[in-house]
Amino acid sequence: MLKKANSLFIGKPTISLEHIDSTNVYAAELITSHKPSEGTTIIAKHQTQGLGQLGKTWQAEEGKNITLSIILKPTFLHPTHQFDLTRMVAVAIAQWLEDYIDKQIYIKWPNDIYVGRKKIGGILIQNVLSQGIIQYCILGIGVNVNQARFSSNIPNPTSFFMELNQDFDLPSLCNHMFIYIEQNYLALKNGRLAELNKEYHERLFQRDESQEYILSDRGKISGTIRKVEPLGKLVLEVDGIQKSYSLTEVQHII
Ligand code: BTN
Repeated sequence: MLKKANSLFIGKPTISLEHIDSTNVYAAELITSHKPSEGTTIIAKHQTQGLGQLGKTWQAEEGKNITLSIILKPTFLHPTHQFDLTRMVAVAIAQWLEDYIDKQIYIKWPNDIYVGRKKIGGILIQNVLSQGIIQYCILGIGVNVNQARFSSNIPNPTSFFMELNQDFDLPSLCNHMFIYIEQNYLALKNGRLAELNKEYHERLFQRDESQEYILSDRGKISGTIRKVEPLGKLVLEVDGIQKSYSLTEVQHII
């Protein structure tokens, strides 16, 4: 049963744009020019230069998908704990998807959202630090919703439509997602880290499975994901030895 409540501050206000290069870039400019309140959200029907992780682009067909950025002010978090925001939002999106899609939803480290072995969404977090504090966080979220076909250079996409064979109303989906993000953000603010970490690990893609990965220093290896460290490094066991890796040092093979 889908909750009918509303969020208290996420999405308030919402700035709706037809076309923009990237909602994350717009959010960064807004932070500089207007000092927006926490929860301010920028939603675009179409991004001309959507940003993905590791300098990649994020492609989404106009008007069919969720492409938005939420501005938070997590001044309570020490900059070394930025991964707490990744964990919190990945869990929120997975929990939200579980209300609709009756398949296993995974979080592919660090924050890709998968339905089974297919990617339905991604997150790009950009933090604004000053004076040793995270002054602002831009949570950029892209979720494939009503798109039925993807260009061949996107390796393993899926969408709400591809999973459920029906179209969805984007504003209602977003409002529902905002509730989960708000709940988990408040949980983080209130120190319920252990709970969020448990939720994250329960959904961690390929956890405890022997799989092939590409390591930047060793090439293709067979290894097993064991966990994600508190500050966000991936712990992979290779030949019985556990070692932690950062995002640029390990790649999944999908
Ligand atoms: C990834 O999986 O590589 C992250 C994708 C993040 C895409 C979203 S869409 C809304 C927001 N604005 C951007 O330019 N990127 C993020």
